[in-house]
Amino acid sequence: MFAYTPLTPVFGARVEGADLRRPLTPEQAREVEDAMDRYAVLLFPAQDITDEQQAAFGENFGPIEGTRATVDVHKQRLANSSINDISNLDEKGEILAADDRRRFFSLGNRLWHSDSSFKATPAKYSMLHARSIPPEGGETEFADMRAAWDALPEKTRAEVRNYVCDHSLIYSRAQLGFDDYKEEEKKMWAPVPQRLVRRHLGSGRTSIYLSAHIGRIHGLPKPEAMMLIRDLMEFATQPRFVYSHGWKVGDLVMWDNRSTMHRGRAYDDKTYKRDMRRVTLSDVAPTLEQAAA
Ligand code: OGA
Ligand code: MN
Repeated sequence: MFAYTPLTPVFGARVEGADLRRPLTPEQAREVEDAMDRYAVLLFPAQDITDEQQAAFGENFGPIEGTRATVDVHKQRLANSSINDISNLDEKGEILAADDRRRFFSLGNRLWHSDSSFKATPAKYSMLHARSIPPEGGETEFADMRAAWDALPEKTRAEVRNYVCDHSLIYSRAQLGFDDYKEEEKKMWAPVPQRLVRRHLGSGRTSIYLSAHIGRIHGLPKPEAMMLIRDLMEFATQPRFVYSHGWKVGDLVMWDNRSTMHRGRAYDDKTYKRDMRRVTLSDVAPTLEQAAA
Protein backbone atom coordinates (compact mmCIF):
# COMPACT_ATOMS: atom_id res chain seq x y z
CA MET A 1 0.00 0.00 0.00
CA PHE A 2 1.10 3.53 -0.74
CA ALA A 3 0.48 6.23 1.87
CA TYR A 4 -2.28 8.77 1.15
CA THR A 5 -2.50 12.15 2.85
CA PRO A 6 -5.51 14.33 1.95
CA LEU A 7 -4.69 17.65 0.27
CA THR A 8 -7.97 19.31 1.29
CA PRO A 9 -10.92 18.26 3.45
CA VAL A 10 -12.92 17.67 0.24
CA PHE A 11 -10.69 15.97 -2.36
CA GLY A 12 -7.13 15.31 -3.48
CA ALA A 13 -4.36 13.31 -1.82
CA ARG A 14 -0.59 13.20 -1.73
CA VAL A 15 0.83 9.74 -2.41
CA GLU A 16 4.07 8.57 -0.79
CA GLY A 17 5.95 5.38 -1.47
CA ALA A 18 5.44 5.10 -5.24
CA ASP A 19 8.34 4.96 -7.71
CA LEU A 20 6.87 5.64 -11.15
CA ARG A 21 10.10 4.64 -12.90
CA ARG A 22 9.10 1.06 -12.22
CA PRO A 23 6.01 -0.77 -13.52
CA LEU A 24 3.09 -0.98 -11.10
CA THR A 25 1.88 -4.42 -10.09
CA PRO A 26 -1.78 -5.09 -11.00
CA GLU A 27 -2.62 -4.68 -7.30
CA GLN A 28 -0.91 -1.31 -7.15
CA ALA A 29 -2.69 -0.15 -10.31
CA ARG A 30 -6.03 -1.13 -8.81
CA GLU A 31 -5.16 0.61 -5.57
CA VAL A 32 -4.34 3.85 -7.44
CA GLU A 33 -7.56 3.62 -9.45
CA ASP A 34 -9.54 3.16 -6.22
CA ALA A 35 -7.76 6.16 -4.74
CA MET A 36 -8.64 8.18 -7.86
CA ASP A 37 -12.30 7.23 -7.47
CA ARG A 38 -12.17 8.54 -3.94
CA TYR A 39 -9.85 11.57 -4.15
CA ALA A 40 -10.09 12.58 -7.87
CA VAL A 41 -6.64 14.26 -7.73
CA LEU A 42 -3.43 12.49 -6.70
CA LEU A 43 -0.01 14.09 -6.26
CA PHE A 44 3.04 11.84 -6.69
CA PRO A 45 5.97 14.00 -5.58
CA ALA A 46 9.64 13.67 -6.60
CA GLN A 47 9.22 11.43 -9.66
CA ASP A 48 12.29 11.53 -11.89
CA ILE A 49 10.66 9.94 -14.93
CA THR A 50 11.10 9.99 -18.71
CA ASP A 51 8.33 10.53 -21.27
CA GLU A 52 8.26 6.76 -21.82
CA GLN A 53 7.91 6.02 -18.11
CA GLN A 54 5.12 8.58 -17.83
CA ALA A 55 3.27 6.97 -20.75
CA ALA A 56 3.80 3.49 -19.28
CA PHE A 57 2.33 4.66 -15.96
CA GLY A 58 -0.71 6.03 -17.81
CA GLU A 59 -1.31 2.78 -19.64
CA ASN A 60 -2.19 1.10 -16.34
CA PHE A 61 -5.51 2.93 -16.32
CA GLY A 62 -6.75 2.98 -19.92
CA PRO A 63 -5.86 3.84 -23.51
CA ILE A 64 -3.75 6.94 -24.12
CA GLU A 65 -5.36 9.60 -26.30
CA GLY A 66 -3.68 9.72 -29.66
CA THR A 67 -4.16 13.18 -31.07
CA ARG A 68 -2.70 16.34 -29.62
CA ALA A 69 -5.08 19.23 -29.29
CA THR A 70 -3.13 22.31 -30.26
CA VAL A 71 -2.56 24.55 -33.24
CA ASP A 72 0.45 24.10 -35.54
CA VAL A 73 0.89 20.44 -34.66
CA HIS A 74 3.56 20.17 -37.37
CA LYS A 75 5.83 22.22 -35.10
CA GLN A 76 5.99 19.76 -32.21
CA ARG A 77 8.86 19.85 -29.73
CA LEU A 78 8.30 16.35 -28.34
CA ALA A 79 8.68 13.24 -30.47
CA ASN A 80 6.62 10.87 -28.30
CA SER A 81 3.04 11.07 -29.62
CA SER A 82 1.64 9.96 -26.23
CA ILE A 83 2.88 13.18 -24.64
CA ASN A 84 1.08 16.53 -24.78
CA ASP A 85 3.45 19.46 -24.59
CA ILE A 86 2.07 21.84 -21.93
CA SER A 87 5.12 24.12 -22.04
CA ASN A 88 5.79 27.63 -23.33
CA LEU A 89 8.58 26.30 -25.56
CA ASP A 90 8.98 26.08 -29.31
CA GLU A 91 10.32 23.16 -31.35
CA LYS A 92 13.89 24.21 -30.50
CA GLY A 93 13.17 24.35 -26.77
CA GLU A 94 13.26 28.17 -26.69
CA ILE A 95 10.53 30.34 -25.15
CA LEU A 96 7.75 30.88 -27.71
CA ALA A 97 7.80 34.23 -29.45
CA ALA A 98 5.36 36.66 -27.84
CA ASP A 99 3.19 36.68 -30.99
CA ASP A 100 3.29 32.92 -31.68
CA ARG A 101 -0.26 31.60 -32.18
CA ARG A 102 0.63 28.52 -30.11
CA ARG A 103 1.21 30.85 -27.17
CA PHE A 104 -2.17 32.54 -27.57
CA PHE A 105 -3.89 29.21 -28.06
CA SER A 106 -2.32 27.74 -24.93
CA LEU A 107 -3.67 30.62 -22.85
CA GLY A 108 -6.96 28.71 -23.12
CA ASN A 109 -5.56 26.33 -20.46
CA ARG A 110 -6.02 29.16 -17.95
CA LEU A 111 -9.81 28.89 -18.27
CA TRP A 112 -11.51 26.31 -16.06
CA HIS A 113 -11.94 23.17 -18.16
CA SER A 114 -12.01 19.41 -18.33
CA ASP A 115 -9.49 17.94 -20.76
CA SER A 116 -10.78 16.83 -24.15
CA SER A 117 -14.43 17.52 -23.33
CA PHE A 118 -14.44 18.71 -26.97
CA LYS A 119 -13.75 15.16 -28.19
CA ALA A 120 -16.66 12.79 -28.87
CA THR A 121 -15.15 10.40 -26.34
CA PRO A 122 -13.61 12.75 -23.80
CA ALA A 123 -10.78 12.19 -21.32
CA LYS A 124 -10.65 9.96 -18.29
CA TYR A 125 -7.45 10.76 -16.39
CA SER A 126 -4.72 13.27 -17.18
CA MET A 127 -1.29 13.16 -15.58
CA LEU A 128 0.92 16.21 -15.71
CA HIS A 129 4.62 16.05 -14.88
CA ALA A 130 6.74 19.08 -14.01
CA ARG A 131 10.17 19.17 -15.69
CA SER A 132 10.95 22.84 -15.14
CA ILE A 133 8.92 25.53 -13.46
CA PRO A 134 8.99 29.32 -13.18
CA PRO A 135 10.14 30.91 -9.88
CA GLU A 136 6.63 32.20 -9.22
CA GLY A 137 3.10 31.68 -10.52
CA GLY A 138 2.14 28.84 -12.83
CA GLU A 139 0.13 26.95 -10.22
CA THR A 140 -2.57 24.56 -11.39
CA GLU A 141 -5.95 24.71 -9.68
CA PHE A 142 -8.44 21.85 -9.44
CA ALA A 143 -12.14 22.01 -8.61
CA ASP A 144 -14.22 19.09 -7.35
CA MET A 145 -17.32 18.68 -9.53
CA ARG A 146 -18.87 15.97 -7.36
CA ALA A 147 -18.73 18.17 -4.26
CA ALA A 148 -20.09 21.09 -6.32
CA TRP A 149 -23.00 18.96 -7.51
CA ASP A 150 -23.75 17.82 -3.98
CA ALA A 151 -23.90 21.45 -2.82
CA LEU A 152 -26.11 22.78 -5.64
CA PRO A 153 -29.66 23.75 -4.63
CA GLU A 154 -32.16 21.01 -5.47
CA LYS A 155 -34.07 23.37 -7.77
CA THR A 156 -30.97 23.95 -9.89
CA ARG A 157 -30.15 20.26 -9.94
CA ALA A 158 -33.62 19.47 -11.28
CA GLU A 159 -33.33 22.20 -13.90
CA VAL A 160 -29.97 21.14 -15.32
CA ARG A 161 -29.95 17.37 -14.77
CA ASN A 162 -30.85 16.38 -18.33
CA TYR A 163 -29.12 19.15 -20.26
CA VAL A 164 -26.83 18.33 -23.17
CA CYS A 165 -24.09 20.81 -24.06
CA ASP A 166 -22.00 21.30 -27.20
CA HIS A 167 -18.27 21.50 -26.56
CA SER A 168 -15.53 22.74 -28.90
CA LEU A 169 -11.98 24.02 -28.57
CA ILE A 170 -13.20 26.89 -30.73
CA TYR A 171 -15.69 27.96 -28.04
CA SER A 172 -13.08 28.10 -25.27
CA ARG A 173 -10.60 30.05 -27.40
CA ALA A 174 -13.37 32.41 -28.52
CA GLN A 175 -13.65 33.53 -24.88
CA LEU A 176 -10.14 34.97 -25.31
CA GLY A 177 -10.86 36.39 -28.75
CA PHE A 178 -8.72 33.78 -30.49
CA ASP A 179 -10.21 33.17 -33.96
CA ASP A 180 -7.11 32.52 -36.03
CA TYR A 181 -7.87 29.01 -37.40
CA LYS A 182 -6.91 27.09 -40.47
CA GLU A 183 -9.69 25.28 -42.34
CA GLU A 184 -8.56 21.83 -41.18
CA GLU A 185 -8.47 23.00 -37.55
CA LYS A 186 -12.07 24.24 -37.80
CA LYS A 187 -13.15 20.88 -39.20
CA MET A 188 -11.25 18.91 -36.58
CA TRP A 189 -12.90 20.87 -33.76
CA ALA A 190 -16.53 20.78 -34.81
CA PRO A 191 -18.72 20.82 -31.64
CA VAL A 192 -19.58 17.54 -29.89
CA PRO A 193 -22.48 16.90 -27.46
CA GLN A 194 -21.90 15.92 -23.82
CA ARG A 195 -24.18 15.48 -20.85
CA LEU A 196 -24.01 18.34 -18.35
CA VAL A 197 -24.59 15.96 -15.44
CA ARG A 198 -22.90 12.59 -15.30
CA ARG A 199 -22.71 9.57 -13.09
CA HIS A 200 -19.10 8.96 -12.12
CA LEU A 201 -18.36 5.38 -13.03
CA GLY A 202 -15.99 4.35 -10.25
CA SER A 203 -17.76 6.00 -7.32
CA GLY A 204 -21.40 6.09 -8.45
CA ARG A 205 -21.50 9.76 -7.43
CA THR A 206 -23.04 12.47 -9.57
CA SER A 207 -20.79 15.07 -11.11
CA ILE A 208 -21.40 18.28 -13.03
CA TYR A 209 -19.51 18.22 -16.31
CA LEU A 210 -18.49 21.82 -16.85
CA SER A 211 -15.76 23.10 -19.15
CA ALA A 212 -14.68 26.29 -20.90
CA HIS A 213 -15.24 24.34 -24.11
CA ILE A 214 -19.04 24.60 -23.69
CA GLY A 215 -20.68 26.94 -26.23
CA ARG A 216 -24.31 25.87 -26.31
CA ILE A 217 -26.98 23.96 -24.37
CA HIS A 218 -29.40 22.05 -26.55
CA GLY A 219 -32.88 23.55 -26.47
CA LEU A 220 -31.92 26.86 -24.81
CA PRO A 221 -31.34 30.27 -26.41
CA LYS A 222 -27.60 30.85 -26.52
CA PRO A 223 -27.35 33.87 -24.15
CA GLU A 224 -29.54 32.13 -21.59
CA ALA A 225 -27.45 28.97 -21.91
CA MET A 226 -24.14 30.75 -21.56
CA MET A 227 -25.31 32.80 -18.58
CA LEU A 228 -26.38 29.60 -16.84
CA ILE A 229 -22.99 28.03 -17.60
CA ARG A 230 -21.26 31.09 -16.12
CA ASP A 231 -23.35 30.88 -12.97
CA LEU A 232 -22.65 27.17 -12.61
CA MET A 233 -18.93 27.75 -13.20
CA GLU A 234 -18.85 30.43 -10.54
CA PHE A 235 -20.65 28.19 -8.09
CA ALA A 236 -18.49 25.16 -8.82
CA THR A 237 -15.17 26.97 -8.47
CA GLN A 238 -15.72 28.55 -5.05
CA PRO A 239 -12.63 28.21 -2.86
CA ARG A 240 -14.29 25.49 -0.79
CA PHE A 241 -14.20 23.18 -3.85
CA VAL A 242 -10.70 24.13 -5.06
CA TYR A 243 -7.18 22.83 -4.49
CA SER A 244 -4.32 24.99 -5.79
CA HIS A 245 -1.16 23.09 -6.62
CA GLY A 246 2.15 24.95 -6.41
CA TRP A 247 4.54 22.84 -8.48
CA LYS A 248 7.92 21.39 -7.62
CA VAL A 249 10.10 19.83 -10.30
CA GLY A 250 9.35 16.09 -10.38
CA ASP A 251 5.73 16.40 -9.23
CA LEU A 252 3.29 14.26 -11.16
CA VAL A 253 -0.32 15.22 -10.61
CA MET A 254 -3.03 12.94 -11.88
CA TRP A 255 -6.65 14.04 -12.08
CA ASP A 256 -9.98 12.58 -13.12
CA ASN A 257 -11.48 14.74 -15.89
CA ARG A 258 -14.87 13.10 -15.32
CA SER A 259 -15.19 14.58 -11.86
CA THR A 260 -12.93 17.66 -11.73
CA MET A 261 -12.09 20.82 -13.65
CA HIS A 262 -8.71 22.51 -13.65
CA ARG A 263 -6.96 25.63 -14.88
CA GLY A 264 -3.41 26.90 -15.14
CA ARG A 265 -2.51 30.18 -13.43
CA ALA A 266 -0.52 33.04 -14.87
CA TYR A 267 3.27 33.29 -14.77
CA ASP A 268 5.85 35.31 -16.63
CA ASP A 269 5.89 33.13 -19.73
CA LYS A 270 7.99 35.57 -21.75
CA THR A 271 10.89 35.24 -19.29
CA TYR A 272 10.77 31.81 -17.65
CA LYS A 273 10.56 28.33 -19.07
CA ARG A 274 7.76 26.13 -17.81
CA ASP A 275 8.13 22.61 -19.13
CA MET A 276 5.17 20.40 -18.26
CA ARG A 277 4.25 17.16 -20.00
CA ARG A 278 0.86 15.52 -20.00
CA VAL A 279 -0.42 12.04 -20.70
CA THR A 280 -4.19 11.80 -21.08
CA LEU A 281 -6.36 8.70 -21.21
CA SER A 282 -9.62 8.28 -23.12
CA ASP A 283 -12.89 7.63 -21.36
CA VAL A 284 -14.86 4.56 -22.42
CA ALA A 285 -17.51 6.27 -24.62
CA PRO A 286 -19.21 9.60 -25.39
CA THR A 287 -21.05 10.78 -22.26
CA LEU A 288 -24.45 10.40 -23.96
CA GLU A 289 -23.69 6.70 -24.32
CA GLN A 290 -22.87 6.44 -20.61
CA ALA A 291 -25.32 6.18 -17.75
CA ALA A 292 -27.47 9.20 -17.03
CA ALA A 293 -27.10 10.86 -13.66
C1 OGA B 1 -3.39 20.62 -18.81
C2 OGA B 1 -3.65 21.97 -18.28
C3 OGA B 1 -2.76 23.69 -16.85
C4 OGA B 1 -1.42 24.08 -16.41
O1 OGA B 1 -2.22 20.19 -18.74
O2 OGA B 1 -4.32 19.96 -19.26
O3 OGA B 1 -4.73 22.47 -18.46
O4 OGA B 1 -1.28 24.55 -15.27
N1 OGA B 1 -2.66 22.53 -17.64
O5 OGA B 1 -0.48 23.92 -17.20
MN1 MN C 1 -6.12 20.89 -19.26
